[in-house]
Amino acid sequence: MKEKIRVIQYLGSKVNILDAIEKEIKKITPEHGTVVDLFSGTGVVSSYLADSYRVIANDVQEYSSLITGVLIKNSRSLIGYDDLINSEAYKNNKDELCKYFKDILEYEQQVIENNDTELLAKLCECNVFYNGENISDTSRDELKKIFGESINMFTDESIEKFKNDRDIYALFTLYYSNSYFSVEQCIEIDSIRKAIDMIETNSTENSVTKKILMVCLLHAVSEIVSSVGKNFAQPIKVVDGSGKIKTFAINRCMRDRKLKIEDPFKEMLEILNRRRKIYSDSNKAYTLDSFEAIEITEIKAADTFYLDPPYTIDHYSRFYHVLETLVKYDYPILEEKKYNGKIYLMNGRYRNDRFQSNYCIPSKGKMEFEKLIETISSTGANIIMSYSDSDDNQDTRKRVVSKVELMELLKKNYPNVKMRNISHRYRKLSSKNSNRKELDDGELLFICHY
Ligand SMILES: C[S@@+](CC[C@H](N)C(=O)[O-])C[C@H]1O[C@@H](n2cnc3c(N)ncnc32)[C@H](O)[C@@H]1O
Repeated sequence: MKEKIRVIQYLGSKVNILDAIEKEIKKITPEHGTVVDLFSGTGVVSSYLADSYRVIANDVQEYSSLITGVLIKNSRSLIGYDDLINSEAYKNNKDELCKYFKDILEYEQQVIENNDTELLAKLCECNVFYNGENISDTSRDELKKIFGESINMFTDESIEKFKNDRDIYALFTLYYSNSYFSVEQCIEIDSIRKAIDMIETNSTENSVTKKILMVCLLHAVSEIVSSVGKNFAQPIKVVDGSGKIKTFAINRCMRDRKLKIEDPFKEMLEILNRRRKIYSDSNKAYTLDSFEAIEITEIKAADTFYLDPPYTIDHYSRFYHVLETLVKYDYPILEEKKYNGKIYLMNGRYRNDRFQSNYCIPSKGKMEFEKLIETISSTGANIIMSYSDSDDNQDTRKRVVSKVELMELLKKNYPNVKMRNISHRYRKLSSKNSNRKELDDGELLFICHY
């Protein structure tokens, strides 16, 4: 049984069907040939294939190419978790943030120690983040009793200062505390992020080490986040429309707030460091839009493309923006919405420049697929394409391109096209009644070759 490394919980992850994908790829790819994973996501497919093939991965999101790049290379970290948190960079950063955010930190510690769900709900709903634009004038005095002077840190000026000086890393504490994470968790994330950045890049081993440690941090952050499904579409909502605390959600949030970065971080580091596979030195991971990627000479020369693009109107950048920001660490401008004539920062705290994929836009999606398949077929490469069918009975999202349309496009460009159903069955609570029912996930593979 080959090892499957799941760094982040991901929508549409193929972690459960890797054997079936590999089996089909083997049938149409020469031994030791080159496979391109054009939409690599969590890198699970790339890393699974990397011990049999040369793998070139690509994804438009930076967190994805960072993760995949580590998974498909022979790499170990020279530095452990304890070295990081004993570093001057970590300690100084943490000390400074603990001073700036002293009042709210002490308040939060009390709330968590006392399991005070009512006060935790109040913190989750307080709207103190980023540049403070969402803090209402009427609540400012009340909130000052909780946040003390640190309430004045949430301004455009301090964001600019932290962004330009870069001596103290404070992005997560300013942007995401009291929502996806606690203040304490954010201070920890910022300080580890700083310690990783401060590792000197004076050798290949050190550059690789930094990347591995970043992958461990991405993993830890996506394990401790307080949200439904462990993504970043929005923080867990602990209060309903009438202001009543939702028992299940607040207990879940309390549990998540107690999680430590250390445990998942160390766990992932151990998994990555104990790998003993030998991968091709020419494996590579790009961060490009799919159309830019297929212009690259080594990609054009590949034997087989594995394609797993998004098929619904949901942009991945909306679900994983916090991971992208953790990698970029660029203090982005956050997205706003207009409501009753007033402008508000959005609850999900999305970056306003997040990538909008044409594959997810109903008016453009079909043309995008057409162009993609045409371009790849013109290189002479074969294609294995994943598709999961939508089904109204299973509450799945409607697809931008249907199975029939896709089959037509593929048949126009390839002499041999087959469709295989590789669904596995699972049990889910039905939304129509409260019974668990057997469902299948409608996973399909299109196999196209010359
Ligand atoms: C279904 S997911 C891939 C999941 C992956 N196979 C796995 O198992 O983890 C689709 C991926 O396509 C990426 N993506 C969306 N639009 C893209 C584009 N135009 N160019 C490159 N990547 C894109 C998303 O960032 C996302 O990671």
